[in-house]
Amino acid sequence: MARFAGKVVLVTGAAGGIGLAAAQAFAAEGAQVVLADRNIALAEQGAKAISESGGIASAVFVDVSDPASCQAMVDHALATYGAVHIAFNNAGMPSAIGGAFEDFSVENWDTLLATNLSGVFYAMKAQVPALKASGGTAIVNTASIAALIAAPGMAAYVASKHGVAGLTKAAALDLIGHGIRVNAICPGFVDTPMLAGALAQPGAREAMNAQAPIGRIASPQEVAQTALFLCSDAASYMVGALLSVDGGVVVQ
Ligand code: NAI
Repeated sequence: MARFAGKVVLVTGAAGGIGLAAAQAFAAEGAQVVLADRNIALAEQGAKAISESGGIASAVFVDVSDPASCQAMVDHALATYGAVHIAFNNAGMPSAIGGAFEDFSVENWDTLLATNLSGVFYAMKAQVPALKASGGTAIVNTASIAALIAAPGMAAYVASKHGVAGLTKAAALDLIGHGIRVNAICPGFVDTPMLAGALAQPGAREAMNAQAPIGRIASPQEVAQTALFLCSDAASYMVGALLSVDGGVVVQ
């Protein structure tokens, strides 16, 4: 399959987890991929591995919480490949602290919202002119089941991901007239570096497996394939959708 032959695809949060899996999958299907992350060493490692296995990829530093850095990321894609057709805005972070609402610090709130919500806005703001100029067709943002339901002790993360859901829907309406479909994926528990600390606790993996009706957490590849679907022509009528990829968690 080469669903993305000739397409330039920009992936944020591509140093590991879902983003790296998506970058690998896009490249395997013919795309020229830009792996963007604030962990530039791992992003470069990922791009090198893709290139060594016959794909086309390059890496660029981005801090999505910085609008100028997002613009530099898009400029890198344009300078390297001459276009941006598809963007997967996937960079995100967990809350540094959990617990009671009143114990959340303003700093923790600001830091989380700056990456998880403002970071998606800054990235899209930089990407959209490039997509319009390139005849680009799709943007997918990584939300979460936390965009659809809440959990105790996670106010900032839940608010940030509900924000991504709203931003996705609003941008979808603004951009569909330009032929750009904007959608979001809503993963449940995924076996990535983000969950590594939690999964290392005794019994945690079993507990997370049990929370999903399917009986297990997701692989990053399974989640990445949902993003690829939304970016592909097979999803040509999907606009502003929040697509759950959670093994059934939110339908319980
Ligand atoms: P991960 O930690 O492996 O990947 C996140 C990547 O984002 C990392 O490479 C990190 O360096 C990068 N990043 C974080 N802040 C950044 C910033 N300000 N600028 C640039 N890059 C930044 O974790 P995972 O799981 O692959 O996360 C990807 C997305 O999936 C995130 O948006 C996360 O919130 C979301 N998600 C993850 C779930 C899970 O269970 N792992 C569940 C639901 C959503």
